[in-house]
Amino acid sequence: MNNNAMEKIETVSVDELRSVQLERMKKTLQHAYQNSPVYKKKFDEAGVHPDDFYTLDDLAKFPFTTKKDLRDNYPFGMFAVPQEQIVRVHASSGTTGQPTVVGYTQNDINIWSDVVARSLRAAGLSHKDTIQVSYGYGLFTGGLGAHYGVERLGATVIPMSGGQTDRQAQLIHDFKPTAIMVTPSYCLNIIEALEKKFGTAKNCSIKTGVFGAEPWTNEMRKEIEDRLGIDALDIYGLSEVMGPGVAMECLETKDGPTIWEDHFYPEIIHPETGEVLPDGELGELVFTTITKEGMPVIRYRTRDLTRLLPGTARTMRRMDKIVGRSDDMMIIRGVNVFPSQIEEQILHIPQLEPNYQIQICKEGHLDTLHIRAEMRKDISQVLAPQLEAQLKSQIKTMVGISVQVEVLPEGSLPRSEGKAQRVFDIRKSA
Ligand code: DLL
Repeated sequence: MNNNAMEKIETVSVDELRSVQLERMKKTLQHAYQNSPVYKKKFDEAGVHPDDFYTLDDLAKFPFTTKKDLRDNYPFGMFAVPQEQIVRVHASSGTTGQPTVVGYTQNDINIWSDVVARSLRAAGLSHKDTIQVSYGYGLFTGGLGAHYGVERLGATVIPMSGGQTDRQAQLIHDFKPTAIMVTPSYCLNIIEALEKKFGTAKNCSIKTGVFGAEPWTNEMRKEIEDRLGIDALDIYGLSEVMGPGVAMECLETKDGPTIWEDHFYPEIIHPETGEVLPDGELGELVFTTITKEGMPVIRYRTRDLTRLLPGTARTMRRMDKIVGRSDDMMIIRGVNVFPSQIEEQILHIPQLEPNYQIQICKEGHLDTLHIRAEMRKDISQVLAPQLEAQLKSQIKTMVGISVQVEVLPEGSLPRSEGKAQRVFDIRKSA
């Protein structure tokens, strides 16, 4: 069998796909209602029953699931199978309270491995590739999720995990991986290490990067592609729904991740009213898992803001690049601002590094932003005031807010080893 062949479901007609989804959705709603006390209670309280579900549009009658539901039922209260059928758990770091825990049956792990393998094929990779996994291994879904997918593809996995940046660069030099899976911000850090150690990163063996776990702009894609000499593709996912591999950008179109809709049913809702919005409109992404056993989620509110787009390389719909999380939106003198908008402007100035911090400060009663950027190597610090003025003016024109800008020497700001923290709210500590 051609290891690079698409699965039949990837190119069936939209009607066929919808009928598969309908059947799977029916089963999932029944499974959740019958086997999860949390969902039984939620459906009963909302006055809906799985028997009320006839068409995919009927999903709108069912209640949402939020992170709070997972926290309230910490640790294992959301599981819908007996504990002995759970073969693995993962958990979020829980920086803002109780961590959230997810559980998988063996069948869930198999499907997860399949969708990650499918994602890697969509990136043009095959069993012939050697793939360095630099997402963190452990409770985070990134490392192990990627790892099982690489093995399922039949490729060679280098289970590097996050951190030890110097060693990452050395292994790339010695083991010659053809692809890397890593957060885009940590990839920049690895590129710096390669450049420092070997003079350039461009000539290394890597040809493809599978980047996700945090928002990143098309400007960042270009930066990484140019410096590493690769195709950089976007992989999306979240633990509550599965992990990496919920959606993946296809190499032939590079036009936003295709959602693997035969397993994860997407909706876009108005973040305040909860109303379902038509495809093409910007709103909050919501997912219902339609094949998961261990911990099915019904209408899980991701907080990620994007829009649904028609399928191109596959039958399944795509999602636009994530604008940001509703939690990350900053309101500065009435203007809604996302970190990605600031990133775009920084990357438009060739003398600046793609590494930055955004501090939210208070001046009198008003919130202000303080942007800290870095000069690229070999650019004289004498230019700092000029670049500060340029960035300030670009942000004013393109984003519509006045900010303070500070351009520091190269290497001044901390580097990411996983998901980058870009925004620091120093209003409380000031
Ligand atoms: O970050 C799973 C993952 C690992 C995805 C590796 C891709 C690669 P969580 O830690 O639960 O799971 O975080 C999920 O990260 O709701 C988004 O806000 C963000 N995110 C994930 N992928 C992308 C992406 C993993 N491609 C949260 N673009 C999600 C933008 C992303 N944001």
